[in-house]
Amino acid sequence: MKYNFDEIVNRRNTYSMKWDGGEFIKKMGLTSRYDEETLPLFTADMDLPVPQPLIEALHKTVDHRIFGYSVFPNEYYEAIQHWFKKRHNWDIKTEEIIYSPGTVHAVNIAVRAFTEPGDGIIIQRPVYPPFTRAIESNGRNVRNNALICDENGHYSIDFADFEAKAKEENTKLFILCNPHNPTGRVFGAEELQKLSDICSENGVIIIADEIHGDLVRINQTFLPIAKVAESTDHIITFTAINKTFNVAGLHCTNVIISNSNLRTKFIKELGMHLASPFTISALIAVYNEGEEWLEQLKEYIDGTMEWVVNFLAERMPKVKTRIPEGTYLMWLDFSGYGISPEEVHDRIYNKANVILEDGSMFGEEGLVYQRICLPSPRPIIKEAFERIAKEFEDLK
Ligand SMILES: Cc1ncc(COP(=O)(O)O)c(C=O)c1O
Repeated sequence: MKYNFDEIVNRRNTYSMKWDGGEFIKKMGLTSRYDEETLPLFTADMDLPVPQPLIEALHKTVDHRIFGYSVFPNEYYEAIQHWFKKRHNWDIKTEEIIYSPGTVHAVNIAVRAFTEPGDGIIIQRPVYPPFTRAIESNGRNVRNNALICDENGHYSIDFADFEAKAKEENTKLFILCNPHNPTGRVFGAEELQKLSDICSENGVIIIADEIHGDLVRINQTFLPIAKVAESTDHIITFTAINKTFNVAGLHCTNVIISNSNLRTKFIKELGMHLASPFTISALIAVYNEGEEWLEQLKEYIDGTMEWVVNFLAERMPKVKTRIPEGTYLMWLDFSGYGISPEEVHDRIYNKANVILEDGSMFGEEGLVYQRICLPSPRPIIKEAFERIAKEFEDLK
């Protein structure tokens, strides 16, 4: 089936955080302006309809008319195993799979399961802000192994600093984000092996948040760290259908832990969580029948990114960016305008009436950046960039 991702589906009055969440978004501090004309391109969900087999599976669940407690059938585990074997050549055993109603929830559980108050946890800023919150709100300490950005906007790992931080007393955990949000880096085999080796040598457990792993550019390959590491004894991987198939509202994360001691600790902290019948039928549908849709989606997002790069080169050449290896996010460097981050914010959020995410939310390394989420119909993206360009015209 051919999907039409240019179609604009009105999300207003559907409880959408982006399209209905004005007061909530203001409270979060993202913006002070939100009205009917606002274009919200911030949080990482898609304004695009999901695969047809998923819609049919959910209809079937609704038509049954009873929504009681559910158990995970064998097909649930088999669908996960099938997907990761086929897409990433990764063999996952049934007993290694643990359901969690969300990834951020699972990060918090891992922090509490594997560290004590006062312990150090490595993250690589600029990075997804809930990592910092999970560390600090649980009384642990951030050890920031900031990524290094070269003059072309390419990010790499400072391994000397990483090793020093791994060796620091009380460093117990490393939260890896791969593909990396917001920079879009997809780390290669050598980088992942090195990270794994350093952690293994220093008794540091790795939490690998790989929930953007299915969303890489068509010419890129994603490697799960558990596939390339010498041993997976110290590796815990978070996978999810929420980003890949635009079902964040169904709350479906699967945590993969091969080390049975770590698995026991994690499960103890997690407690019992059952999924809804909608979540279970959704996962089975997308992992068994969602591939055709995903391939078309990837092509569409690649096309949008190319459009953005060309638009910026022509209309806003002072904004530096690059097509990321993975994710559907772009990381835009506004420093070329020589104005303050506050003024950049004012022109985009208040004047152009577009909501992005201020780079400062990802750590001080992101101060001059804006993050944009691109999985929306291209006409919406085009309008957003037209509006933004107009507000920067006087600074050409
Ligand atoms: C790297 C990363 N982890 C976790 C999440 C949130 O996942 P969940 O909705 O499953 O908590 C996001 C959402 O943007 C993300 O980008």
